[in-house]
Amino acid sequence: MTARQVPLVSLFLSLFLSLISGTYHVSATSTPPSKDLNIPTVVDLRIEGQNRTIFSGPIRTRGHNVTSASGVTLHCDGTNNHTNPTPGPTCTSALDDASKQAGFSWDGELFTEFDDFLITRIARSEQTATEFWGILVDFQFTPVGGCQQQVKHGDKVLFAFNAFNKTHFLSLAGPKAAAVNSSTTFAVTDGASGEKIANATVVTLRGGPVGITNADGEVSLEFGKTGIHVVKAFREDSIRSNHVKLVVT
Ligand SMILES: *[C@@H]1O[C@H](CO)[C@@H](O)[C@H](O)[C@H]1NC(C)=O
Ligand SMILES: *[C@@H]1O[C@H](CO)[C@@H](O)[C@H](O)[C@H]1NC(C)=O
Ligand SMILES: *[C@@H]1O[C@H](CO)[C@@H](O)[C@H](O)[C@H]1NC(C)=O
Ligand SMILES: *[C@@H]1O[C@H](CO)[C@@H](O)[C@H](O)[C@H]1NC(C)=O
Ligand SMILES: *[C@@H]1O[C@H](CO)[C@@H](O)[C@H](O)[C@H]1NC(C)=O
Ligand SMILES: *[C@@H]1O[C@H](CO)[C@@H](O)[C@H](O)[C@H]1NC(C)=O
Repeated sequence: MTARQVPLVSLFLSLFLSLISGTYHVSATSTPPSKDLNIPTVVDLRIEGQNRTIFSGPIRTRGHNVTSASGVTLHCDGTNNHTNPTPGPTCTSALDDASKQAGFSWDGELFTEFDDFLITRIARSEQTATEFWGILVDFQFTPVGGCQQQVKHGDKVLFAFNAFNKTHFLSLAGPKAAAVNSSTTFAVTDGASGEKIANATVVTLRGGPVGITNADGEVSLEFGKTGIHVVKAFREDSIRSNHVKLVVT
């Protein structure tokens, strides 16, 4: 297979699977046509690069023309390839808005037959002959490309490097507050299936306790310092988790 065939196969495979399961029908047609659905919408965007999280947080977006780093401009509002009847915010419009807000660039290869980009690079994480960017909404691969896939308020939009070679997309849950030096439990699951994930390393970013999840996907950490802590889960074969922010008092 050539470099470009692999993600296309993945795209078609996921399209095929979603047709069988009926999710394609739901995502493409469940929103009733309306005069203006292309209103600013806040989604929860996360971009997991090769070695680091490039972006994680809310982003306000609406469908708009985007321009890739290599200079190709394309409408990016879900009407691409006639996927949706009316314009609206999309995965890649969110990526584009985040890139402007946070100051990183992205690039894509235009596929005229899909009227969409294949994302090839975000920040410094560039696809290779075997590692590609994947796009997920609520931990499911999107059945179509990022300018075709519309999003709604609160959707968890994830761009993940080497997504097609990962075992799990980690999801981390934990409390918003904890008492200092008290046992605080975090749980790691597979975001798509809910399966409990053992052997994930749960790390307090910028210093603090670290632990490894047990067979129930749980780990207890004790925070020795008060303040705001940010915790995230990692496993070698998986896409790192969302972060959990908690206040220790
Ligand atoms: C948006 O991009 C399309 C090409 O996809 C172009 O035809 C159109 O003129 C652009 N619209 C604006 C407002 O720039
Ligand atoms: C693009 O649209 C055509 C015609 O509706 C369809 O056959 C094709 O599967 C679509 N491509 C993708 C990638 O969704
Ligand atoms: C990630 O780290 C590896 C190993 O240090 C390095 O070869 C690679 O260039 C890094 N990737 C990015 C995008 O920085
Ligand atoms: C996929 O993962 C396996 C096992 O982690 C690794 O050996 C292989 O090199 C990876 N392939 C790519 C394309 O990253
Ligand atoms: C977790 O790690 C232990 C020790 O390395 C190993 O025996 C066990 O099979 C691992 N479990 C999973 C689910 O990876
Ligand atoms: C928490 O534990 C650390 C290390 O054992 C200790 O230095 C600190 O005084 C403790 N803080 C409280 C409020 O108990």
